[in-house]
Amino acid sequence: MSAGRKALVLHGPADTIAGSGEFARAVRAGLCASPKRLPCCYFYDAAGSRLFEEICALPEYYLTRAEREILLREARAFAGTFSGPVMLAELGSGSAAKTRILIDAFLRRGPLRYAPVDISRSALAESSRALLNEYPELQITSVAGTYEDGLRYLRRTGGEHKVVAWLGSSAGNLERDEAARFLRRVAEAAAPRGRLLLGLDLRKDERVLLRAYDDAQGVTARFNRNLLARINRELGGRFDLSAFRHRAVYRREAGRIEMHLVSTHAQQVRIDALGLTVRFAAGETIHTENSYKYSLPEIETLARDAGLRLMASWLDREQRFSLNVLA
Ligand code: AVI
Repeated sequence: MSAGRKALVLHGPADTIAGSGEFARAVRAGLCASPKRLPCCYFYDAAGSRLFEEICALPEYYLTRAEREILLREARAFAGTFSGPVMLAELGSGSAAKTRILIDAFLRRGPLRYAPVDISRSALAESSRALLNEYPELQITSVAGTYEDGLRYLRRTGGEHKVVAWLGSSAGNLERDEAARFLRRVAEAAAPRGRLLLGLDLRKDERVLLRAYDDAQGVTARFNRNLLARINRELGGRFDLSAFRHRAVYRREAGRIEMHLVSTHAQQVRIDALGLTVRFAAGETIHTENSYKYSLPEIETLARDAGLRLMASWLDREQRFSLNVLA
């Protein structure tokens, strides 16, 4: 970090997410449900965040590269539409790799405050440190917490144009109606002059999607199984990771990729901290993630349902991914 400059870190409940028992409650509820499920927000501990960064660099995972291509093409003109000080908030910032393109574009035209929001404290600390080194003129206020903590911070802060970036198709990990409700709340928090920059993956050939979520090197499989490893680490679980297979399925009607962990045989798994033994039949699955894909009309519907105006939808050259401006 450059001398004398520090990123202000606001401590949200992410600090205590495991200690507070939230993870434990979610694991108990999900593994006692039928069918079994685990919430995808728990993928992102330090190990999971590192694996996700690896996924983003995979040849099959086109999402990151396609979004980057769009940002490189559009960011400067987009930033030029604002006058006066801007606050760029980013939901789920991770390593903030693509955000540098936006930061560059905004800094060319004037002062910028960057407010990354991420559940992974380690990823946030690392990326904020790197950004402070790279951009001496940038102000950073990081929020280590959930999206809810991020919204709370957005509501409290004012005086600038608020631009909220929600990139990488993370909105696709919510149900479509949940995404619309959440976007409405983001817009309220960014009012009155807020803009939303929303990255959404597009519907496409099923084979391309399946390759992206079941890559040849098995990184996505490791990412998925890290949920079980995390239960072992944090809750005294006894999962044998080799006894669960990664499976990606595309549900065309729903327009979503599902990720599952499939029990290779009938087994019982003890989780000490929960005082729980979970029984699995051979072939039984734990549903760990939905990743919704959007058509252009579905993006319009999403904007309408959120009470927002869709000002632009930019696509990459191969039309695999969209970056949308909402007001
Ligand atoms: C973070 N999110 C948008 C990713 C996705 O594509 O749904 C998470 C992911 N799951 C498997 N690969 C990547």
